[in-house]
Amino acid sequence: MAEISNLAYVGLAASDLDAWQSFAEDILGLQTGVRTPDFLSLRMDELPYRFFLEHNDRDDLSVAGWTFDTEGELEAFVADAREKGAAVTLQGKEAAQNRQVERLYSCPDPNGYTHEFSFGVERLPLTQAFRSKVLQSQFVTGDLGVGHILPLSRNADETIRFYREILKLRVSDYIRQETPNGVLDANFFHTRTGRHHSIATAQVSSPKILNHLMVQVAVMDDVGLAYDRCIQAGLHIAAELGHHPNDHMFSFYVQSPSGFNIEYGWGGLVIDDADWQVTCFTQQSDWGHKRNPQRA
Ligand SMILES: [Fe+2]
Repeated sequence: MAEISNLAYVGLAASDLDAWQSFAEDILGLQTGVRTPDFLSLRMDELPYRFFLEHNDRDDLSVAGWTFDTEGELEAFVADAREKGAAVTLQGKEAAQNRQVERLYSCPDPNGYTHEFSFGVERLPLTQAFRSKVLQSQFVTGDLGVGHILPLSRNADETIRFYREILKLRVSDYIRQETPNGVLDANFFHTRTGRHHSIATAQVSSPKILNHLMVQVAVMDDVGLAYDRCIQAGLHIAAELGHHPNDHMFSFYVQSPSGFNIEYGWGGLVIDDADWQVTCFTQQSDWGHKRNPQRA
């Protein structure tokens, strides 16, 4: 079965690219790839970019970029998705060149952002190795991909069906937690390379599609150091340090210049499907992740 390898990149619509550039470089430890007045790309590793931000007042998720190992797998996946009724469109050479891939397709998500499917991503030469201003270690990427995203669902059943049947993502597990606002029902999905989840969703009413995106670092100290930089810079910590029971992530959440949160984590689980058992957890965190009220 032709399957997605991993979530290779994420596109964002952002109103303040200057704020994003310093947040990304000085707080998160990303490296600027390309910057123009209306565009900012951000690096985490040997690839030319892992995030791209286009100037737009929406301040939300715009693109989830999924990669395939081979052209054959990409084409077979697209044919299958079309057979199931998905509106997958081949993008032109210029669009593929902009994404620095060999071939590019796109398809709308039921929640108002775009999925892109590609293969043959460019790699930069050693002379342009990734350099972070602040990181002690490195980001955990490679074939585990960029990290994970949590776009919220308008209709959870429709969204979950899309992720399972069209994107052919594998179910990781569920979290169903009683909260003062009702039951939170979160659904987690992984690709065949095994990052515990590349995408998760829950039906929560919110003005934004994107609840948060997660980047992972290789050593625990880099989470603590990033937390200290956020405090020093006076940023809003949306959730304090804590530990998730399902993906084992030790992390905190900081509000980005676009309003949605960045989860900054270490220690995320990699799933081996040979012995994986899907379970349902009843709480989001083993400890911590205490939520801080939004500042006025
Ligand atoms: Fe997360």
